[in-house]
Amino acid sequence: MEMRSIGLTMAACVLFSAQLVASRAESEQQELKLVTPPLSMYRDQIRPSADSLPVPAGFSRDQILHGDRVFHGEAANGQCSVCHGVDGKGTTNGNDLTAGMFIWSDGSVKELKRSILHNMAVAPGRDGDLEPADVDAVAAYVWAISRGEPVK
Ligand code: HEC
Repeated sequence: MEMRSIGLTMAACVLFSAQLVASRAESEQQELKLVTPPLSMYRDQIRPSADSLPVPAGFSRDQILHGDRVFHGEAANGQCSVCHGVDGKGTTNGNDLTAGMFIWSDGSVKELKRSILHNMAVAPGRDGDLEPADVDAVAAYVWAISRGEPVK
């Protein structure tokens, strides 16, 4: 008799604590959502306005505009935005290119171009559809979106 009620009490305890753990996990998930909106897949992905992005030295506004089209699949069959996001802030398949910090380069156009040429399957020589001029333009575009807010 006593053993039975101890058993029941224990079962109730186990159930109760399992529920506690579950609700804690839920609220932790909610917290995560709250602190990571920029990297969330569910954020609004806003395409930067290529007209107001900065232009790196030695490049033209036309190259930024072309790079923007390559990045977003409107020229040279560029697929960058599929992996790096319409806003360049990354998806689960490609990292954030707007943070001003790069894993594979110092962020100069020259080095970004090297990363794109050697690491991205979309590049010429890696069977992609990009021509050298497209790489120049999209490297300048990535430089521009990595510079933070567009110049007003
Ligand atoms: C199939 C998905 C995919 C496509 C398409 C793609 N990328 Fe990437 N890209 C990645 C991934 C994944 C990485 C990170 C690779 C790594 O760290 O090893 C990366 C890395 C980079 C980097 C280096 C980032 C750093 O932190 O140093 C640059 C620059 C870049 N991509 C630009 C581009 C451009 C421009 C295009 C389009 C012409 C493009 N990518 C298309 C997936 C993609």
